Amino acid sequence: MVVIVPAGNFWYQSKTGDKLPGMLLMNVTVENSVEQQNQMHTYNQFASDNYAGICPEALQAMQTANTGFVPSYGDDIWTERACQHLRQVFETECQVFFVFNGTAANSLALASLCRSYHSVICHELAHVETDECGAPEFFSNGTKLLHVNGPGGKFDLAEVERTITRRSDIHYPRPKVLSLTQATEVGTVYTPDEIKAASALAKRHGLRVHMDGARFANAVVSLDVAPADITWRAGVDVLCLGGAKNGMAIGEAVVFFDRELAHEFDYRCKQAGQLASKMRFISAPWIGMLEGGAWLKNASHANCCAALLEQHLAGIAGVSIMYPRQANSVFVEMPETVVAALRAAGWHFYSFIGSGGARFMCSWQTTEQDVLQLAAAVKLAAAGAGTASGGPA
Ligand SMILES: Cc1ncc(COP(=O)(O)O)c(C=O)c1O
Repeated sequence: MVVIVPAGNFWYQSKTGDKLPGMLLMNVTVENSVEQQNQMHTYNQFASDNYAGICPEALQAMQTANTGFVPSYGDDIWTERACQHLRQVFETECQVFFVFNGTAANSLALASLCRSYHSVICHELAHVETDECGAPEFFSNGTKLLHVNGPGGKFDLAEVERTITRRSDIHYPRPKVLSLTQATEVGTVYTPDEIKAASALAKRHGLRVHMDGARFANAVVSLDVAPADITWRAGVDVLCLGGAKNGMAIGEAVVFFDRELAHEFDYRCKQAGQLASKMRFISAPWIGMLEGGAWLKNASHANCCAALLEQHLAGIAGVSIMYPRQANSVFVEMPETVVAALRAAGWHFYSFIGSGGARFMCSWQTTEQDVLQLAAAVKLAAAGAGTASGGPA
């Protein structure tokens, strides 16, 4: 493998000679500066839980489903079994649909709850507002997102109520849905009581409740609750349940707890290009994740790694933890020189999420060694070495 490292950026040159942007890499060997060309480091990244691979349970289930001919478009035994598993997990006869990704899940779920002249109330940091390229508005033919502030990525309910009741005239897009993210975009978690309070407020004003659960499993293990207690028993109508970040290759489940709301949702999926013809390969991994508890094991592991990382980073002078760490991410504020040194060393992390700090995200695949390596790199950079490393050679 040949690695070329221009200043602040890096490229991977494949065996065929193609130059690929380094952002595509998950676990690579890089040289992080001309001076360090002889120091080769191999390490996993913390930019996103999406960087991780497919966990063994999901991969095995996909492999198991890869036998013979079965009906297409979800009319198969694997999809039926996956739906049944989800009904057991949520202890209710929910209606389930599988789509390719979280943006589609959220957008189609919201569109199904609204008409074009309605509005969805979401947090100002919500993925539906900041990172879905207008897809919720697009798929709902213009439903407006109204964002509301609140500390730690969670709603300030007084603000929510003000937004709902601010106007009732015909010129204001009529609030129809309250959308919560669990775990939130900044790694905090709504408690069951907070969800109940938010739902009660929404219901009082005739709004439905949507939950973006891209990291729902991380919230479940963090709170140590039954999935039902933070969804339908707390007033949630529709959950977009994350699979990819939890260890699957692809696929999210849209779970309707009020089955009437699922009316014709299958048509919506098809029209949006979200009905997989070979559905079994999206649905079967859910069986692998759910039946032996891998979904919770993976989330628990990721949360524990984040806790360890938080513990190490909290002790570094000049580095401060930005939000209570309750799931699988740690957000830190660091001097620009430290940020630059880490990036120059090849570490990937986002700084556009939340209010601008660096986000370090753990996954089912993160190891304790990875955590220690990153912590050591941050420590070295913060000590003013000017450069950071990926860890011991
Ligand atoms: C809170 C949240 N919701 C939803 C998603 C799903 O997005 P995607 O469309 O990339 O699967 C993400 C992914 O980053 C997310 O962080």
